[in-house]
Amino acid sequence: MELITIKTPSTKGEIYIGKEAISKRLPCLTAGQKNFVLTDSNVYALYEDWFDAHFPQTEIFILPAGEENKNFQSLYAILEKMAGAGMRRTSRLFAVGGGVIGDIGGLAAALYMRGISYVQIPTTLLAQVDSSVGGKTAVDLGGIKNVVGAFYQPCEVLMDSTFLKTLPDKEIKCGLGEIVKYAALNGEIFDLLENRADDWKGLTFLESLITACVSHKARVVEMDEKESGERRSLNVGHTTGHAIELTSGLSHGESVLYGMLLETRMVMQAGVCEKTYGQRLLALVERAIALEPTAGMDFTAIEDSAEKARADKKNTDDDKIRMAVAKAKGQWTDFSLPFAEYVTALKNACK
Ligand code: NAD
Ligand code: GLY
Repeated sequence: MELITIKTPSTKGEIYIGKEAISKRLPCLTAGQKNFVLTDSNVYALYEDWFDAHFPQTEIFILPAGEENKNFQSLYAILEKMAGAGMRRTSRLFAVGGGVIGDIGGLAAALYMRGISYVQIPTTLLAQVDSSVGGKTAVDLGGIKNVVGAFYQPCEVLMDSTFLKTLPDKEIKCGLGEIVKYAALNGEIFDLLENRADDWKGLTFLESLITACVSHKARVVEMDEKESGERRSLNVGHTTGHAIELTSGLSHGESVLYGMLLETRMVMQAGVCEKTYGQRLLALVERAIALEPTAGMDFTAIEDSAEKARADKKNTDDDKIRMAVAKAKGQWTDFSLPFAEYVTALKNACK
């Protein structure tokens, strides 16, 4: 079992990675106070016995699965249930699921009685490599991703890759969306992917990627918890990715892959990203996209997506689109374009 710690000005969090993470840590974390579990309908259906064994006589809220439920109504229902079940300031929330459950569960924990302790038990690859770490919590509102939220760190994250055995290939591909993002920021993760000619889906390989991505993220979050500087790097591919997610019906990880594809082509054309490196990065993105055949993205609808990029949280000016983009191996940079130029560049990148 590996332990990675995150120390921020507000807190110290611990991330345990390995097959013993849950058996070793959960008994200590559940003892001594009232607990509340949040999960989604798919995870509960697959792991009902696991919940019975690990959370006997515990209030469990089962949210219908899907990004469309990461909203205020669900948040309200969770908080109402917590209050109805008599949760106190000393109570602890356990978010067991993918990024949707982690994001909304973390926000419920941040709000309930002005903040109670919570633990992330991520069950998707995307949540294990990225979303369960770093304390970003949120719900979507009014067609804007993650627009209501808080930075609120979990006390512990327990990662067990055994959960990935039931994950459909499409969700492995979504996790690879965030992993390729880390490859754009970290030369060692880039080499891990590039040197592995086949089978990106093997569990042992994924475990090494989880540790590498979490280590990278932990250091970035320690440097810049509230995203005023270095943490912006973790949004590579995300400005266009979120815009695609909101208009295409594709899931978050798939949209990030297309966001990386288009933004990398865009910055190569603009001379911001070094060409040979950009081509190698694009090859990784394309390999991840090809891992699981889906309908993919409708490039003819790109103007609708571009409009959504206008509302992105990272923009400071109504008419400028601000992106974090890949520059060279292990290097990123800020890149802004006036909206009209962004639309033109995006359309060119689709060709
Ligand atoms: P998700 O939570 O919707 O999970 C994807 C699907 O996998 C769901 O249908 C879920 O029920 C199912 N599932 C979960 N665990 C499973 C398992 N072990 N076996 C089989 N099926 C399983 O989506 P996600 O891809 O995990 O996360 C995406 C969300 O994370 C988005 O809302 C995104 O905005 C957010 N996110 C947050 C951060 C952050 O830093 N907070 C970072 C990246 C993404
Ligand atoms: N996933 C982006 C971040 O945590 O900052």
